[in-house]
Amino acid sequence: MKHYLDLEDLDDAALARVLARAGELERSPISDALRSRVVGLVFMNPSLRTLASMQAGVSQLGGSSFVLTPGQGTWQLETRTGVVMNGAAAEHVREAIPVLAEYCDLLGVRCFADGQDLRHDLADPAIRAMAEVSSVPFVNLESAIAHPCQALADWKTLDDLEVPRQGGRFVLSWANHPKALPLAVPAAVVAMAARRGMDVTVLRPEGFGLPETVMQNAARLAARSGGSLRETDDRALALAGAQVIYAKSWTAPQFYGRPEEEAKHRARFPDWCVDPSWFEHTTPNAHFMHCLPVRRNVVVSDAVLDGPRSVVVRQAGNRLHTQKALMVELLSAGGKG
Ligand code: CP
Repeated sequence: MKHYLDLEDLDDAALARVLARAGELERSPISDALRSRVVGLVFMNPSLRTLASMQAGVSQLGGSSFVLTPGQGTWQLETRTGVVMNGAAAEHVREAIPVLAEYCDLLGVRCFADGQDLRHDLADPAIRAMAEVSSVPFVNLESAIAHPCQALADWKTLDDLEVPRQGGRFVLSWANHPKALPLAVPAAVVAMAARRGMDVTVLRPEGFGLPETVMQNAARLAARSGGSLRETDDRALALAGAQVIYAKSWTAPQFYGRPEEEAKHRARFPDWCVDPSWFEHTTPNAHFMHCLPVRRNVVVSDAVLDGPRSVVVRQAGNRLHTQKALMVELLSAGGKG
């Protein structure tokens, strides 16, 4: 029985199979591959795309799904280990997850970072502990440090756009935002692009360098795939010849868990909003990517988001096709264990 906690849980052959099946399901969306199967979805945090695409996908494959939002009509769930449960949470995931696994054939869970302790969140303990006690295939729908469903959809989007795997020039750029945001998407995206064999640049202002473990992981993947990885705060250098600008805001690791100091530092960079001038020295047809949701005229200008470079809706559409293919892959690899 297979879990999907990270893009690396698909080896190269499985990844190729999932991407090929996603293409088939895009062309021919309806099938009975999940007939009589039930998918359980637990959302400890808000979602638009992930929630809607998982439910739509299960339905298009002939299965059914249920959604729990702990604390809203369902017991609030505790994810920490070894705590005295005398607070708001009435049930621990160590019981809740195995119980839900009794009712379904596959579980998907979203559980964001605590945002207090960087080392703790980098280890992704909550999602890993839940997967460990699941007797059915378990899908990470975004955890403290991974968003592998986004990575899978983004890989397909790059393929759809014929951005070369080897030697494609990919810039992951930090962008402004009114809040300190988690590291899951940038960590997933930089690893995806590196594994794809691209020449990856992480562009960010001072203080927003991605954590060392995230960069080391991406560097390892780049080395294996023949890609490259660099990090800079020099916008002109990073964007020259880029084929993709993928914008995302993330918290400053050096101020992790200290939101007031982080906000003060972040306020120094209001000009990190992607506007048409960012594309002056990219390749002529360079694409703009973002996982959504996105703050208009903070992260990216209307002119870019509404213009022909933006592929954000295609990215979101690919969430549906790739997650359907992923569920078929996981369920064909074995059900209840
Ligand atoms: N990109 C993404 O995961 O979107 P949601 O948070 O809306 O699910």
